[in-house]
Amino acid sequence: MAGVPVSRAGYEPVARAFAPEALGLPVRLRGWVLRSRSSGGILFFLLRDRTGSVQVTGKRDVLGDAAFDAAEHVQVEGAVEVDGTVAEDRRAPGGREVRASAIRVVDAGAPFPIFADQSEEFRLDKRHLVVRSQEHVATFRLKAELLRALREFLDREEVLEMTPPVLSGNAAEGGAEAFQIDYFGRPGFLSQTAQLYLEALLFPNERVYALTPSFRAEKSRTPRHLTEYLHLEVELAWCDLEGLLAFEERMVVAATHALAERRPTELAALGRPPEELRAVDAPFPRLRYAEAIDRLAAQGFPVRWGSDLGTAEERALTLEERRPVFVTHFPKELKAFYMLRSPDDPRTVEAADLLAPEGYGEMIGGSCRETDLARLTERLEASGGSVAEYDWYLDLRRHGSVPHAGFGLGIERMLRWILRREHIRETTPFPRTPSRHTP
Ligand code: 4AD
Ligand code: MG
Repeated sequence: MAGVPVSRAGYEPVARAFAPEALGLPVRLRGWVLRSRSSGGILFFLLRDRTGSVQVTGKRDVLGDAAFDAAEHVQVEGAVEVDGTVAEDRRAPGGREVRASAIRVVDAGAPFPIFADQSEEFRLDKRHLVVRSQEHVATFRLKAELLRALREFLDREEVLEMTPPVLSGNAAEGGAEAFQIDYFGRPGFLSQTAQLYLEALLFPNERVYALTPSFRAEKSRTPRHLTEYLHLEVELAWCDLEGLLAFEERMVVAATHALAERRPTELAALGRPPEELRAVDAPFPRLRYAEAIDRLAAQGFPVRWGSDLGTAEERALTLEERRPVFVTHFPKELKAFYMLRSPDDPRTVEAADLLAPEGYGEMIGGSCRETDLARLTERLEASGGSVAEYDWYLDLRRHGSVPHAGFGLGIERMLRWILRREHIRETTPFPRTPSRHTP
């Protein structure tokens, strides 16, 4: 409401109303109306802020006619300020309510257009309002906690955060899946990976990471593909495959345990008992690609050496698992040009995908990097890349090239598994898919 002065001081978080010592004391709260009704000169609000929600009651004879009428017109998701006293009330959620002595309307709001049982398309069109739902609030708090836990882990491991570009003249992971843009008349690409830049930054820093959006122009409409996703990428000097797997294991265990510890309520509300995350422990099962193929063939999958592992195959390999599963030593033809040839088998590369348990599929792709300039150049050309375009990257193999390895974790893929979401779009506030890039 225009012209209503909004006070700046003395407001307390809504959760304060439930503190043992708050009973009988005055409080000043502000927030949004989750639900409201009025009958017989009494108004009921469920008032929400970032800390929780509490029932507020207001009586016409206490508030006065004008204020009561104004408060009665507040819609769901309208904003108000409340002065009142904390009282016990058995019927109220949490057993407490705030009896209002004053209600000031900040914005009465228009009727809120989101209800239960609306179509998925409509809810996606109104995503900017749907993000206020309890499910989304819990989801994005968990996502923030996941990012925090990952950063804390990387900090403990002395891995330094870097800020690589997202706009580039190279399309690193394969040109077909890159979004091309017009960069002042020259071709430019939205980054699919920060890896090549992290490799450059590795030499002066030895352990680096970046958390950036990656873009994939895949038209695949699957429950696990976004066209924009959040990519956590790590690059470690002096690291072999064993070291890489051990690092990924420590990281996933640290992150899942941190979530179980810090956000048990949100996890439980979203359908993942925290104990299940606490039970995620090292070592994770490890499977060579060749063994995976044998196992799948024995289950009747039409696969042989050289077949890619798709959704169905990854699902079959992990459905019964409660811990993530490593698949290692893929045929080189299935993987990117920069992966190191296995010392014991020239047909394979020192690569590892980490598959989420319970059938959720790949969440990390990683490998040791080829350090030999001649071999790297040969693989680049064999994969259709241009030596001229990648000259700067090849330069890294000309000046103190050392063994190193790295990986990329799809944050939404990991969250999809943790929260058991059917579709990956439920793990990001504004999903980007082939059919949608608004709101
Ligand atoms: O396996 P990818 O393509 O590997 C790379 O890009 C490496 N250069 C990373 C590196 O080593 N620094 O992608 C890594 C991860 C996948 O395991 C998956 O979790 C996620 O990124 N990812 C996607 N997530 C959501 N939507 C998509 N379309 C994704 N494509 C990959
Ligand atoms: Mg991959």
